Amino acid sequence: MNITNKTVLITGGGSGIGLEIAKLLSAKGNKIIIIGRTESKLKAAAAALHNTTAIRCDITSEPDVKDLVAQVSEKYPELSVLINNAGRAFAYNHNENAGAFEKSTEEFATNYFSLIRLTESLLPLLKAQAEAAIVNVTSIVAFAPLANLPSYSDSKAAVRSYTLSLRHILAKNTSIKVFELMPPMVNIEFSKDVGGEHGMSPVEVAKGLIDGITNDEFEIKIGQTADFRKFYLAAPAEAFAMMNQG
Ligand SMILES: NC(=O)c1ccc[n+]([C@@H]2O[C@H](COP(=O)([O-])OP(=O)(O)OC[C@H]3O[C@@H](n4cnc5c(N)ncnc54)[C@H](OP(=O)(O)O)[C@@H]3O)[C@@H](O)[C@H]2O)c1
Repeated sequence: MNITNKTVLITGGGSGIGLEIAKLLSAKGNKIIIIGRTESKLKAAAAALHNTTAIRCDITSEPDVKDLVAQVSEKYPELSVLINNAGRAFAYNHNENAGAFEKSTEEFATNYFSLIRLTESLLPLLKAQAEAAIVNVTSIVAFAPLANLPSYSDSKAAVRSYTLSLRHILAKNTSIKVFELMPPMVNIEFSKDVGGEHGMSPVEVAKGLIDGITNDEFEIKIGQTADFRKFYLAAPAEAFAMMNQG
């Protein structure tokens, strides 16, 4: 799919991987809408990019999402790409009495339930376009969990499963293409508690996404995710052990 001259909404576009995607897509002549909870961060990001608008929106808040959808429907009815990138993660393990219920509830609220609500709310706009796409950002841990990010891993596996169903259904009678972006560990504040400083650059992840969309590669396995996926299919127990070594 050609990814120029489109209108693209990126959740969590004010930092990290989402911001790098926003930079590359704005440089390719797309109109960008970035959303997140922190207005100052969003505004600073939007001011530094071409043709980019910031809208404050907490995707876990129903009123915020209703307001976002109303604004987008009115001002950007041509919206054709939704990038579901916003995410939360807690590093802990199940032997720490760390509040797994509260942490997993928050992760699933952001990473899974809110992604589904926003996607469903924007589907009418996306369906109205001749060519449209949805990108769901999962992770290498969607294949095998990292035991120190346990419920985050669960949430990404759930989004991966949702993405498979969504792609299958939308392929039947819409022109919406559904992509899954699967980064490995990325060097970002988000992943500092689980060794993120050894991860790949978010710029490379963003470049990989653009290549994947351009080539209609629906499962975009970035960096070591591709080899890990093959290893997981051949030897799941060994792949799990490799994910959790050390
Ligand atoms: N870093 C990694 O190693 C890695 C690896 C694989 C996959 N990923 C995935 O990549 C995506 C981006 O993460 P990142 O690494 O770039 O970290 P990041 O910089 O922390 O980005 C997460 C973004 O989500 C936004 N966000 C969080 N909760 C939100 C909410 N309720 N409503 C709206 N926006 C919200 C944050 O902005 P506010 O806080 O201002 O709301 C932030 O801009 C996530 O889905 C993550 O799971 C990351």
